[in-house]
Amino acid sequence: MSVTRKDMDECSVHLTPDDLAVEILDQRALPNRTEYMLLETAQEFYDAIRTLAVRGAPAIGICAGYAMYVLALRSGAKTGSELIALLEKDGEYLISSRPTAVNLAWAVRRMLERARSLENESPEAVTKALLEESKAIHAEDIGMCTRISEYGLTLVRPGDGILTHCNAGPLATSKYGTAIGPVLLGKERGIDFKVFSDETRPLLQGARLTSYELQKAGVDVTLICDNMASIVMKNGWVQACFVGCDRVAANGDFANKIGTSGVAILAKHYGIPFYTLGPCSTIDMNCPTGADIKIEERDPEEVKSLWYEKPMALPEVKCYNPAFDVTDHSLVTAIVTDRGIVYPPFDENLKKIMEK
Ligand code: MRU
Repeated sequence: MSVTRKDMDECSVHLTPDDLAVEILDQRALPNRTEYMLLETAQEFYDAIRTLAVRGAPAIGICAGYAMYVLALRSGAKTGSELIALLEKDGEYLISSRPTAVNLAWAVRRMLERARSLENESPEAVTKALLEESKAIHAEDIGMCTRISEYGLTLVRPGDGILTHCNAGPLATSKYGTAIGPVLLGKERGIDFKVFSDETRPLLQGARLTSYELQKAGVDVTLICDNMASIVMKNGWVQACFVGCDRVAANGDFANKIGTSGVAILAKHYGIPFYTLGPCSTIDMNCPTGADIKIEERDPEEVKSLWYEKPMALPEVKCYNPAFDVTDHSLVTAIVTDRGIVYPPFDENLKKIMEK
């Protein structure tokens, strides 16, 4: 697969044409405004990831790759080893912005490994190699999303209803996305689906982003509140659930946006196949089970006041705001990766696919 600069520029994260900074489409402003932001410093990258200006596991990984390159470019380091020490510090800082999506740490570590392999070279040579590596991470993601979309497309029939949760489309990745990939690839080939998009409380990624992307692409999309998933399943309108993932453990448990495990439980109740779709970079073989995944907790105000003109709870009311939950592997029909579709037993079959 050949990837052009244009393919990469069309993503929600890319380098500026002069390769001096990262430009992101600010996902916080959608669907009402299309705004771009330039990121150049470690603080700016940290804040953009933390506040979800850039979000979605693969997009965060792509951004982190570019961030490491831009930080190298701007470091002023005099030697390769001085540069690597600075990047190690900045890399840890970036990783600390969001703990759950493995792609963030994965991309930072991949960039550091490349830098360390050139420790005795000049800072310019290291930086040049990091530019290549960051572009490779991005190009690979486009390829992975395309393959995931192809595999996912084999699991559904024209006209099927597909329920999705959160946003795992192009904004969260590159090109087609992961969970939304089969729908967009199908659309290109004249195959239509009916998508039900959970609004996804508390940050409304489904309402603001998924229904936006699908509506713009001409897909039949219906926005529902999270608590309506059961009725649309009961009505017989859903033939498959497609969701993304932020970290897949070695036994097939996986973390994704809060509420995903509830969708999986409902799907099991109604006998609907439930799939998670994600690249192999989201599979963490060092994480034995879902219990080992660190779940990010976020500001209670996202639940209590963010979307309202007035606060919707007394200030002293306790609030629990986990950003992700873990879906038990027993609820998962299959994990769709860029290397193929993985069925249970997941512990054996994930191992095989990761050794490929
Ligand atoms: O908090 P977010 O919006 O970054 O959460 C994103 C998700 O849960 C996505 O489903 C996941 O990252 C996969 S994106 C292909």
